[in-house]
Amino acid sequence: MESFRIVTDAGIEYAIHVEEVTEAREELIRTLIEIDLQTFSESTFSHYTAAAFLRYGRVFLLSADDMVIGTCVCMRCWDRPNEVNIVSMGIRPGWRGRGLGQKFVLGVLDRLRSKGLRAVNLMVGDDNRRAIKLYQDVGFQPTGGENIDPRTGERFLVLRAQLHASSLTPLPSPTRD
Ligand SMILES: CC(C)(COP(=O)(O)OP(=O)(O)OC[C@H]1O[C@@H](n2cnc3c(N)ncnc32)[C@H](O)[C@@H]1OP(=O)(O)O)[C@@H](O)C(=O)NCCC(=O)NCCS
Repeated sequence: MESFRIVTDAGIEYAIHVEEVTEAREELIRTLIEIDLQTFSESTFSHYTAAAFLRYGRVFLLSADDMVIGTCVCMRCWDRPNEVNIVSMGIRPGWRGRGLGQKFVLGVLDRLRSKGLRAVNLMVGDDNRRAIKLYQDVGFQPTGGENIDPRTGERFLVLRAQLHASSLTPLPSPTRD
């Protein structure tokens, strides 16, 4: 995904782009933790694990001008090294609901494919209808697998996308027709 521009309701124009983190800078560790806390009911990262993912996983950023407004944290599969698991993906609350999630995921998939990766797997809460729709629109399909958090009973669907060129085109949405 190349950079593109959006105009907010307040009339401010921003250049939106997706980039891959190349350095585990301290401010990025704080940003990862902050966006995660704005997103999930339970924190995903400590300072230590955020730094570890930045160094040893792959982290992609969604930015509006020079502000980071979304993060996507990936790790490579141990058993199938040409596959990736998305550990966490979120956009800051004020930036949701504008179609940026789909652009972000497509940008991440493009970059992973360009590195020769073949498939991407993730888990998503089975009641997270917005995220499920987004993922299915960009080519993720249910594997039939499911995980249940034994503490809360929360169910997670397992989704998978093959990184073929054809899977990276968003499906037409009935709501836009
Ligand atoms: C999930 C998330 C990344 C989506 O990004 P976003 O920019 O808000 O999403 P989009 O605006 O691209 O919307 C995605 C689609 O879901 C649709 N949608 C929104 N709410 C929905 C709902 N309750 N049920 C079904 N579809 C819904 C939108 O209409 C849109 O479809 P469209 O492209 O056909 O219009 C973002 O909302 C977020 O960060 N949420 C919290 C973190 C999270 O849930 N992460 C994913 C878990 S792994």
